[in-house]
Amino acid sequence: MIGELPAFRRDPTGFLMRKYREQGDVARFRLGPQNVVLLAAPDDIRDVLVTHNTRFVKNRMLHRARVLLGEGLLTSEEPYHTRQRKLIQPAFYRERLAGYAAIMTEEAERRSSHWQDGAQLDLDREMMRLTLAIVARTLFSANVEEDAGEVGAALTDILDLFDLLMLPLSQWVVRLPLLPAARRFREARRRLDKVIYRIIEDRRRAPGEHTDLLDLLLAARGEDGEGMSDRELRDEALTLFLAGHETTANALTWTWYLLSEHPDVERRFQAEIDTAYAEQVFAEALRLYPPAWGIGRRAIEPHTVRGVTYQAGTIFAISPWVTHRRPDLWPEPERFDPDRFRPEAAEARQKFAYIPFGGGPRGCIGERFAWMEGARILAAIGRQWSFRLVEGHPVGPRPLLTLRTSAGLRVYSQRRDRPISPSKG
Ligand code: HEM
Repeated sequence: MIGELPAFRRDPTGFLMRKYREQGDVARFRLGPQNVVLLAAPDDIRDVLVTHNTRFVKNRMLHRARVLLGEGLLTSEEPYHTRQRKLIQPAFYRERLAGYAAIMTEEAERRSSHWQDGAQLDLDREMMRLTLAIVARTLFSANVEEDAGEVGAALTDILDLFDLLMLPLSQWVVRLPLLPAARRFREARRRLDKVIYRIIEDRRRAPGEHTDLLDLLLAARGEDGEGMSDRELRDEALTLFLAGHETTANALTWTWYLLSEHPDVERRFQAEIDTAYAEQVFAEALRLYPPAWGIGRRAIEPHTVRGVTYQAGTIFAISPWVTHRRPDLWPEPERFDPDRFRPEAAEARQKFAYIPFGGGPRGCIGERFAWMEGARILAAIGRQWSFRLVEGHPVGPRPLLTLRTSAGLRVYSQRRDRPISPSKG
């Protein structure tokens, strides 16, 4: 019954990579009672995410995340999902994003102004606080400076209880009154809810002063003329807080790590410090360490891949980690080389060979936001700071909901002696 579940849980990304090496483009295995098919080739991935997307729903693991996220954009299904996505989309329109750019740079400068030259720094935590503050300000016009520690700690508690969340029947398990882990989970969720319901309540009391996502959500009316309930607002807000900061923060943490390990790239990054090269560096970090390391779908109708038909109920797994390390698509895949993302190279690349943001109707709504945020933060901080890993600090991937570093990222921060004028960025 358990299939290869223990091996998968011990080292999920290593396990998936091994399956790809052993079986190639289409790899089959069992995890617990589930038949899983790992698709590693771009065309097969496109078929699931785009061409035949109506044959699939999110996998159970993500549905279980509803104990935290409720029916937010990430976890809901049709037809509710499309309605919500249409409502939320305008917050990510190009014109809107332009207005967010200055906030991103400003928050990066504010966060880094607390750092001291030569001191040790938990860069992973700094990136989490920074991206959380940016999502809060851009989408909710909320200042979470005082709440950021609280929210960050609660989210970390919840992610540490990830195993609990991923149990079958987790929605009942977390209600067990005496189970200590369940109690900690409920406590952390309560702390998050408190911050979010406060933001919603403040806005209901003083509406119309902002033109942000929360206003769009509050103004939205269904066909029956009804607006969203506090509970619905809470689910969308918490989803965006979580999906919109944890991923980008992890991507940035990995980027700083890669830069600190590759002095040649770091020198060029510092010499050229502009958002165009920063974006290439960020793109290459997203290739090697994609925060969404696995994307799962459950077939609700039969689905045929290369002449073989799989029954409804089959889980299809897509792993950016695996596809981004295919040597036929990415020569010398382990090498960190931002030149892979020169604009000419990007045009020549096969579609769906690079999928850090998934694709299709369930692709990342925040993709453009994330590109802008990554590049802005790297440029703003890179102008003034560089980082050296603290000796002996272990760095490895820890695939939870997103791909974290196993033990954070402990660095020495070094002020660069001649800060470069910001006019180039
Ligand atoms: C580097 C940063 C990011 C990465 C790597 C990333 C990755 C992804 C991926 C792979 C998905 C699709 C999941 C699936 O198909 O099952 C997704 C969905 C989503 N992302 Fe992101 N994301 C990032 C940043 C953001 C940001 C900044 C926001 C919001 C501010 C955001 C909000 C969402 C939401 C709401 C969804 C669900 C969309 C839907 O199903 O309609 N993400 N993201």
